[in-house]
Amino acid sequence: MSAVIPPSGPSAPQSHGKIKAIVYFVGFTAALAGLLFGLDVGVISGANEFIQKDFQIDDTRVEHIVSALLWGAVFGVLLSGFFSLRFGRRGTILISALVFAVGSIFCAMAPSPGFLIGARFFLGIAVGMASFVAPLYLSEIAPQSVRGALISMYQLMITIGIVVAFLSDTFFASYADLQPLATKLSESVSTLAGGRGQMVMEGYFAMPWRWMLGIIAVPAVLMFLGMLLLPESPRWLVLKKRGPKALEVLRRLASTEQEAERELAEIEASLQVEQKGFALFKQNRNFRRAIFLGVGLQVIQQFTGINVIMYYAPRILQEAGFDTTAEQMWGTVLVGTINVLATFIAIAFVDRLGRKPIMYAGFTVMGAGMLSLGAIFHLGLGGGGQDMTMSYLAIASLVVFIIGFAMSAGPIIWILCAEIFPLAGRDFGITCSTATNWTANAIVGMTFLTMLNTLGPGNTFLLYGALNAIFIVFFLAFVPETKGISLESIEKKLLSGAPLKQIGR
Ligand code: BGC
Repeated sequence: MSAVIPPSGPSAPQSHGKIKAIVYFVGFTAALAGLLFGLDVGVISGANEFIQKDFQIDDTRVEHIVSALLWGAVFGVLLSGFFSLRFGRRGTILISALVFAVGSIFCAMAPSPGFLIGARFFLGIAVGMASFVAPLYLSEIAPQSVRGALISMYQLMITIGIVVAFLSDTFFASYADLQPLATKLSESVSTLAGGRGQMVMEGYFAMPWRWMLGIIAVPAVLMFLGMLLLPESPRWLVLKKRGPKALEVLRRLASTEQEAERELAEIEASLQVEQKGFALFKQNRNFRRAIFLGVGLQVIQQFTGINVIMYYAPRILQEAGFDTTAEQMWGTVLVGTINVLATFIAIAFVDRLGRKPIMYAGFTVMGAGMLSLGAIFHLGLGGGGQDMTMSYLAIASLVVFIIGFAMSAGPIIWILCAEIFPLAGRDFGITCSTATNWTANAIVGMTFLTMLNTLGPGNTFLLYGALNAIFIVFFLAFVPETKGISLESIEKKLLSGAPLKQIGR
């Protein structure tokens, strides 16, 4: 998901003015970056089978295609700090929208698996950048009273992006008649190329996976155009010593003149704290402890096994006895939809019940889902074809797992990572934790099929189930409860050497 960077001055009074419509427009457009991110994460699950057949490649090569985007995202996150400082938050989102569009078209046109791997890596750079910069921009542009809401909207957009990609894959896999389109397109391209290669191109363009991957260029272009209308982040403008311009933007967004001036003063005050990043990491043991916590949380989020399902759901459903592509695709859409809906559980309860109770509940539910999936594969699927009871139980287990994830680890790990770093090292901390998220994500993406083929599905899911149970111990030992605690107070306790578990309440 995202680097969610919360306001730096939580002690400032809340605004009670009416929120202007432009704030929602700005929020919505920037949150589209989340949609694109989700589209790119989700799209590959439906495309895998077609890519594998078309290129005649083995499972290891498929793992490389899946994970290339994730390694690209690690790289994108590492570049984000530099880009967002140099070109501004808005500028960086514009650049990533362009890379999204061009990268999607490269993927769709890929003539070989190697090319596709390169194109997915390139596209991943945009995904990584968006995962860092869009929430940063949102948190910097939103008036304090709606910051939380806008950042949650971004997170929700990711899950919506994933399910929209699942639906679009289903459409191209099962319902679209691509032949006439392929003929038309290949005729036009071949005319441009002096009448050459029409037959070859027709074969190319009739492949569903090319449409699945290419169609994402359309929302990318829309986001690019939308972003052109948005203002630059006032915080970045202040950082670049363009205070008057920042005030102009704040006036457009804030409900009252006082609010605009107060926000400007707050930004100026928070920028007094110099970002020390790596120097702080070297000098300060307490800061290193926070990095340990952020990195640990992100490793845990990925090793829940969430993306095994996001990237390979159709394959898992096939292993579970759903033989037709349509069944596998609709099962995947179901899982994606539950992922969106269960995110609302977290949104509703995270500030009421606290982060930790929801995490305990979520990890228990996830563990139960994975363990029962493993057990079902061990018990056997019931003699093939006729009796689908075990297959339905398998899909029910997947759904249980997804509910557990979306209500807890999905959003809350990002929230915690945004809360635990002291201001002077926040950029560095979030870079480390977000890059870890993508690295762990890539490792999961590139090992799953190998695990299926060597350990078998039963053991693979039992292993993920056991990991989810073990992670509860990490929460018991190290994770603080940060509900309702100001960031200043968390920072003070961390830097005074309090145990990690106690830096919240
Ligand atoms: C994770 C992603 C995952 C998504 C699924 C996010 O919180 O970081 O890796 O694909 O949730 O909804």
